[in-house]
Amino acid sequence: MKVLFPREADNLYLLPILKGLGTYIPGLHKIASKGTGGTISARYCYSVWLRHLVLAQKHGLSIQPEVVAELGPGDSLGIGLAALLSGADRYYALDIVKHALADKNMEIFDELAELFKRREMIPGEDEFPRIKPYLDSYEFPDHILTEERLEGALRPSRIEAIRKALLDRKNRCCCGTQIAYFAPWYAADIIKEGSVDMVYSQAVLEHVDDLLGTYKALYSWLRDGGFMSHQIDFKDHGTAGEWNGHWTYSDAIWRLIRGKRPYLLNRHPHSRHIRFIKECGFDIVYDSKVKSDSRISIGDLSSRFSDISKEDLTTSGAFIQAVKR
Ligand SMILES: C[S@@+](CC[C@H](N)C(=O)[O-])C[C@H]1O[C@@H](n2cnc3c(N)ncnc32)[C@H](O)[C@@H]1O
Repeated sequence: MKVLFPREADNLYLLPILKGLGTYIPGLHKIASKGTGGTISARYCYSVWLRHLVLAQKHGLSIQPEVVAELGPGDSLGIGLAALLSGADRYYALDIVKHALADKNMEIFDELAELFKRREMIPGEDEFPRIKPYLDSYEFPDHILTEERLEGALRPSRIEAIRKALLDRKNRCCCGTQIAYFAPWYAADIIKEGSVDMVYSQAVLEHVDDLLGTYKALYSWLRDGGFMSHQIDFKDHGTAGEWNGHWTYSDAIWRLIRGKRPYLLNRHPHSRHIRFIKECGFDIVYDSKVKSDSRISIGDLSSRFSDISKEDLTTSGAFIQAVKR
């Protein structure tokens, strides 16, 4: 049986290239680039934040970060708003495109506040089968978000202050005392060195172009002992016929597929993330890989990916938590 996957030599996958070329047509590009997906839903944001928090506790990391920073919040600032509702005092959101709109943020915030007030269970695999990481239990984590902690965090005056911060549009979208949204961000000095307790991202680090530079920025923002928590998806995001088919494309083909999009995929496999994280000075405390079968063999890969190991070729995702040394 012939295995179907994109290979430049014999079976070029034309649709992604056409899509890439379509990005040069202004109207088409706008239609194709509507929204990023997940954070449009309050329940998604609640679920993602609590998963990072529960796993931080499990791995001995701080569960009361005062200052949090998020890379790539996407359609809303909801995951960071969930962090604020859990007691964090300041939230930095950094994106390459300003997707999040003030009205949507407010709507999500109000829904999130209700979820926390009800101590709602964490929406799990039934509701969001594609969200990772998975947890052993989706019960509300009252061992972390204790009654005392939530009583303080959900005080009406505090909720009002966060709403006010969300409305403050003086600096970009909504920079107040508690929320700063930088989109686009380019330089690490946008956040003071050593001022952040926790940096996290969900489905973002596979997209950033300058991966090593970004890990260096995250390192500089964190205080000593601060930590980062990332879910990363190494799959092709619809650019190939196989989940790992994007590693068969040469750089020239990949440029056509990306077209004019502000970001697509950096195509770095798991082992490169691990190398960069260690090179920057982090200690990895948890690295959970999602394994998937490969119908592609090492010999099918583009020469640019000749260093990809069998292990990388079957690693379609990872959840990584690491501490600044
Ligand atoms: C797939 S979306 C994920 C959005 C959100 N985290 C979620 O879970 O729904 C990827 C996000 O990464 C952002 N992104 C891409 N490159 C980035 C960069 N260099 N720095 C920060 N964000 C980036 C995109 O703009 C987009 O918001």
